[in-house]
Amino acid sequence: MNKKIFSGVQPTGNLHLGNYLGAIQNFVKLGKDQNNECIYCVVDLHAITVKQDPKLLTENIRETVATFVASGIDPKKNIIFNQSKVAAHAEAAWIFSCVARMGWLNRMTQFKEKAGKDKEKASVGLYSYPILMAADILLYDATHVPVGDDQKQHLELSRDIAQKFNNDFNKENFFKVPEPLIQKEFSRIMSLRDGTKKMSKSEISDLSRINLTDNKDMIISKIKKAKTDPLPLPPNLDELENRPEAKNLLGIYSSLKNINLDQAVNEFSGKNFSDFKEKLIEVLVDKLEPISKEINKLMSDKNYLNEILNNGYEKADNIASKKVTKLKEIIGFY
Ligand code: AMP
Ligand code: TRP
Repeated sequence: MNKKIFSGVQPTGNLHLGNYLGAIQNFVKLGKDQNNECIYCVVDLHAITVKQDPKLLTENIRETVATFVASGIDPKKNIIFNQSKVAAHAEAAWIFSCVARMGWLNRMTQFKEKAGKDKEKASVGLYSYPILMAADILLYDATHVPVGDDQKQHLELSRDIAQKFNNDFNKENFFKVPEPLIQKEFSRIMSLRDGTKKMSKSEISDLSRINLTDNKDMIISKIKKAKTDPLPLPPNLDELENRPEAKNLLGIYSSLKNINLDQAVNEFSGKNFSDFKEKLIEVLVDKLEPISKEINKLMSDKNYLNEILNNGYEKADNIASKKVTKLKEIIGFY
């Protein structure tokens, strides 16, 4: 079966190893398969659910495109565009906010985490964020959505919206019910400073993450400083439990090498962290140095990045505007 793939990344800066291993690496793989039609969106409307500096936002939109391309997504074969250019996303999001139920949104754990203690001060957009995400996906009839583990709940909401709309309006297959594509192992890369917390763009300490723009020296220094525990590396998977930092670093290694976690555990069984870190640095530098160099190169070619976004806009708008027109007809708008 031909797959229609849609995914999005927020242009909020500091794209990191977690974004790469959890999402972008999979975008590249899916994009290379001739049977897939892939659409990758820079979700700038989602970015403004928290305060953004306008100049920095523009820069981060470009940097996200540069990261997609530098990681190996071919802009000729796949559609790359930014969300705010295609008006249908905002239109469909409004309509879906009349389909989704308060109770569904109240269950979203990401809102609770992001809004923190003072929910009264969070933007309304941060709360309704998953509804906009449903609009992104459903407008393109996406069948599969590659994301990191943290987006699973949002994807379930998209599925619920599609099903409720189809039922309410008696249109069985108008919206496709999308499937998540989540890596089986290491769908959640953890912070280098605390193996129980997700690696995140917004964490204050830059030492907590490897940014995709980090150069070789930065990668070496961050891995050397990465938190460990006092024991040598364990001989089996069972003994890796309750050792979050060891598990995370071995997980990163295995994902980069495309091997299973137990193969990585076998390779380093009984070794010290310092020996293992040397190897980890080697594979990280091998994988990331060419990407960060390419991002830098692309960032100096504004015209090329603009051209990618303009071409992507035309193709995406063509699909989404047709779907939203049909959607309005079904609702009865005149
Ligand atoms: P965001 O930066 O929130 O726009 O996320 C872009 C993509 O990266 C989404 O598919 C996320 O699920 C994924 N992602 C973000 N952080 C991590 C992480 N620490 N581990 C794995 N995947 C992640
Ligand atoms: N919410 C996603 C994230 O933070 C980004 C996103 C927006 C997305 N729209 C999407 C992902 C549609 C997949 C499909 O990571």
